[in-house]
Amino acid sequence: MAASGEPGRQWQEKVAAAAAAVVVVGSCMTDLVSLTSRLPKPGETIHGHKFFIGFGGKGANQCVQAARLGAKTSMVCKVGKDSFGNDYIENLKQNDISTEFTYQTKDAATGTASIIVSNEVKTLFNPAPAIADLDPQFYTLSDVLCCNESEAEILTGLEVSSPSDAGKATLVLMERGCQVVIITLGAEGCVMLSQKEPVPKHIPTENVKAVDTTGAGDSFVGALAFYLAYYPNLSLEEMLKRSNFIAAVSVQAIGTQSSYPYKKDLPLDLF
Ligand SMILES: Nc1ncnc2c1ncn2[C@@H]1O[C@H](COP(=O)(O)OP(=O)(O)OP(=O)(O)O)[C@@H](O)[C@H]1O
Ligand SMILES: *[C@@H]1O[C@H](CO)[C@@H](O)[C@H](O)[C@H]1NC(C)=O
Ligand SMILES: *[C@@H]1O[C@H](CO)[C@@H](O)[C@H](O)[C@H]1NC(C)=O
Repeated sequence: MAASGEPGRQWQEKVAAAAAAVVVVGSCMTDLVSLTSRLPKPGETIHGHKFFIGFGGKGANQCVQAARLGAKTSMVCKVGKDSFGNDYIENLKQNDISTEFTYQTKDAATGTASIIVSNEVKTLFNPAPAIADLDPQFYTLSDVLCCNESEAEILTGLEVSSPSDAGKATLVLMERGCQVVIITLGAEGCVMLSQKEPVPKHIPTENVKAVDTTGAGDSFVGALAFYLAYYPNLSLEEMLKRSNFIAAVSVQAIGTQSSYPYKKDLPLDLF
């Protein structure tokens, strides 16, 4: 969301000039992954059998998925002024993401909620990680609120472990002022509710063999941002069916961003 005042206006003008259709405000994190047989005790050194560095952060993940589907994207975030930060910026560029608003700082990077803004038209809010006392303005100011089961539980205080539970939670969130509420349910797909169609609807997904579901939620949100920006005439239900499909592809490969499909790898009827 652009801040008001001069910096905000300059930012909007620059984004408009670059014509990014999906602008993600969120985190870029470097994952340092060590595979070990157990966790070390405090102060203990143990041998690992594998180590790798991955690009993560919920905001950047979502941006990468949208970009790989063909969206013109821009990532608004801060990374450290160090080699990880340099590598991350390179990763964004490799994914054709504009880094004009990707800043570097000597302060530690902070992972916070991510907000997707597409050219002042639609805002998609992904309250991750969720907090129970979220500022009520987030509900009224976002066009679309999309969260997973545990986030829905934190936000509503209700138990969410089935499509019918999720339906009840969407009704509570809608009462707080959201236009559209979506709750993702892993292998069960998602549940949607909108002011236009105020009856919760379950959108099931493909039955696939999941090998690694890490980052599935961000693949889903990134795909949804892509459809909101590039196919605004599709019904919400159709956008969600397609986002389910894309996220289901991502769970069939290992890793987070490494499992996100490109447009060229997907069926033509998704575009
Ligand atoms: N096992 C699965 N089979 C098919 N699709 C899946 C599976 N798991 C997740 N998905 C797809 O990914 C979407 C998001 O999954 P989920 O609700 O688990 O999000 P999440 O908890 O935020 O994910 P994560 O935290 O693992 O990144 C689902 O709505 C669905 O479309
Ligand atoms: C939902 O997302 C949060 C991150 O905000 C994650 O910690 C949690 O494990 C996810 N819940 C489910 C059910 O996958
Ligand atoms: C979307 O719908 C509007 C109004 O129905 C129409 O004018 C416009 O051409 C459509 N856009 C696309 C890309 O189909």
